[in-house]
Amino acid sequence: MKALILAGGLGTRLRPLTFSMPKPVIPLLGRPLVRHLIDPLPEEVDTVILAVSYMKDYLERYFRENDIGREVVLVNEEEPLGTGGAIKNVARWLDDTFFAFNGDIISSLDLSAMLESHRSHHGIGTIALWSVDDPSAFGVVATDGSGRVTTFQEKPAPGEEVSNRINAGAYIFEPELLDRIPDGVVSLERDVFPNVLDRGLYGYAFQGYWVDAGTRESFLRAQRTLLDVGGGRVACAVRRLSGVRISGNNMIEAAHVEPSAIGPNVYIERGAQVHDGATISNSMVMAGAVIGRGATISNSIIGPGMVVEDGAVIADVILA
Ligand code: GTP
Repeated sequence: MKALILAGGLGTRLRPLTFSMPKPVIPLLGRPLVRHLIDPLPEEVDTVILAVSYMKDYLERYFRENDIGREVVLVNEEEPLGTGGAIKNVARWLDDTFFAFNGDIISSLDLSAMLESHRSHHGIGTIALWSVDDPSAFGVVATDGSGRVTTFQEKPAPGEEVSNRINAGAYIFEPELLDRIPDGVVSLERDVFPNVLDRGLYGYAFQGYWVDAGTRESFLRAQRTLLDVGGGRVACAVRRLSGVRISGNNMIEAAHVEPSAIGPNVYIERGAQVHDGATISNSMVMAGAVIGRGATISNSIIGPGMVVEDGAVIADVILA
């Protein structure tokens, strides 16, 4: 079975970090974001197809240098074709039931159970659904009693939503869907889904956790969620953590950490340095970054090799 991952977006909401690396390889607790999607795929998925465009060379290099235990095919789009156009562009690879994912979702979705549900309905596709209190920033999906999708609403005004279930960006499709996607730049959500309801599109609601890691806030929320689910891990390559005050769940791979206050929800990548008296919370500090003496970092992503001066106060930003 094949799994298609949409990985060609510009990642504008994570700029300036995504000026120097594409979103799928941004490290989330020591693993590129996209590996959090690939690694839990059911065993029957033997081939992963990545629909790439923006910074494709970076992704090619990553998969050349890292064996993920499945065949990997990167299919390029000269110009980004949108989420529907990207699927159409890889049609020649898809001759059987396939998984498809937005490349930046982190979730507890049980894909084997979803596949079973899909097979029982005999529809053209199944969409994973996640419940939220306020769906106004999302694609809202309403289903009937049998789970069949009846309505799509893109970002409804508060109070106008037809349901509180949103499109979680994880799908199972029959190849027949490919014939229903027009050529060119096409949005799956806007241009394709509303036109295939007649053929039977089903919802698969799940619980646990789901985060779309596409913004600074949500990326850090994904980090927090995984740290909390995993019970939190401290240290790895750190030579000395004496005098460091640690609160909550964190992951610290840094080479050099002087007495400081770290946590909760901090990931410090290999090769970063944290100097005396620094305070870091709800943040990621990437490889080679240096956090100066007495600096305070909160709700931020500090990009690779960035230097935060002694005493600086950094809050709610991406530095890269
Ligand atoms: P923003 O620019 O911050 O909105 O990020 P994005 O470009 O990643 O867009 P968005 O988060 O809406 O995209 C959801 C998923 O679809 C991501 O995994 C993107 O990489 C992917 N994606 C979006 N547009 C395209 C496209 O035109 N082609 C391909 N191959 N993937 C796309």
